Amino acid sequence: MPSEYLDEIAPRLPLFADDTAFSADAILDHDSAVVQNPLDIAPVTGARSQRVGVGDINCYTRAGVTVFRGDSMQFYDQWETPVVIISDGPYGVGGFRGDPPNSHDLAAWYAPHVATWSKRATPQTTLWFWNTELGWATVHPVLLRHGWTYRCCHIWNKGVGHIAGNANSKSLRKFPVVTEVCAQYVREPEFGAGGVPMSMREWLRYEWERTGIPFSVTNSVCGVRNAATRKYFTKDHLWYYPPVEHFERLVLYANEHGNPSGCPYFSSNGIRPMSGAEWARMRAKFHCEVGVTNVWTAPAVRGSERLKSKSKCIHSNQKPLQLIELSIRASSDSGDLVWEPFGGLCSAAVASLNLGRNCASAEISDEFFEIAVERLKNHVVKSSHKG
Ligand SMILES: C[S@@+](CC[C@H](N)C(=O)[O-])C[C@H]1O[C@@H](n2cnc3c(N)ncnc32)[C@H](O)[C@@H]1O
Repeated sequence: MPSEYLDEIAPRLPLFADDTAFSADAILDHDSAVVQNPLDIAPVTGARSQRVGVGDINCYTRAGVTVFRGDSMQFYDQWETPVVIISDGPYGVGGFRGDPPNSHDLAAWYAPHVATWSKRATPQTTLWFWNTELGWATVHPVLLRHGWTYRCCHIWNKGVGHIAGNANSKSLRKFPVVTEVCAQYVREPEFGAGGVPMSMREWLRYEWERTGIPFSVTNSVCGVRNAATRKYFTKDHLWYYPPVEHFERLVLYANEHGNPSGCPYFSSNGIRPMSGAEWARMRAKFHCEVGVTNVWTAPAVRGSERLKSKSKCIHSNQKPLQLIELSIRASSDSGDLVWEPFGGLCSAAVASLNLGRNCASAEISDEFFEIAVERLKNHVVKSSHKG
């Protein structure tokens, strides 16, 4: 991004000498932070790239990646269904305008967002919730209450270099903090029979039992020695999701050989059995990269990736593209839609551009929005990145 441009916009922003120093800006409650958007908002996908006279546009689209100016609450309804949600909002540290000064108010702050994500997400959706460890602990019960299932907590370890020369061990009363967390949540699909809700595991057993065929037959149907009875139809914690190909075989066999009066078996609508494609959409995508653990070691954003004006960082919370890309790669495929409700400098939008995903981002601060648009406009996608 041309530095003259940043120098022009950035003086209106609180600037950060580094990403540990926060200014104590005024706190806006949710309603007072709503920005009315007087213009029509272009749809996320299929929108044309727009020429930006940055100060007078309300959204910008490039290759399926759209950044909106304003409160994400006003956009969720028009965004298509997300496969990934990257939440990097308030931390309860007074880090930017609207960020509460402590974690006490975070649960109430996030509640309307979490409620909306829950309505719009599907069992394919993964939520990556960034925060401090205390912020995450505070919001975790809200996520559970709204039907999110906890998968894993990833620790972003910025390393000792993050506090080098900056920590006075004589006066500190705790060890210096060089981490943030990124917790992964998914949604369980809803199954049931006769109005009784069931888990996926219970439903699989229930449906096979209805056929009247012994469970032992499921092994030969799937072409395995005992994996079907040991994994897919077990009642214990060793239960395992039947892969699509095995699910299709089970469904076919059940409907051809099961008690005819009970057909269709493995149906979600009582009319026809569920297809393999529908079954695949019953759980969140996850591509596990070899060598990656739940400790993500990466320095705070530095060098040319860090957006600066007059050598000061523009946003205290700019996330490393490598970590955002890791989470997007792990939980989506090319062409899937990523939501970034709290854009900042819109790192998830840039990561989506790199990875060939669609993205809908919102940023409430005019200044950050304008810088994010410039960032997106000028970003050079390396061809090796895509895929
Ligand atoms: C932690 S920062 C995000 C940083 C971002 N991940 C990056 O790498 O640049 C959170 C941002 O969310 C914005 N924000 C807060 N509430 C918002 C809302 N309701 N709608 C849209 N943006 C919001 C803040 O202005 C702030 O810039």
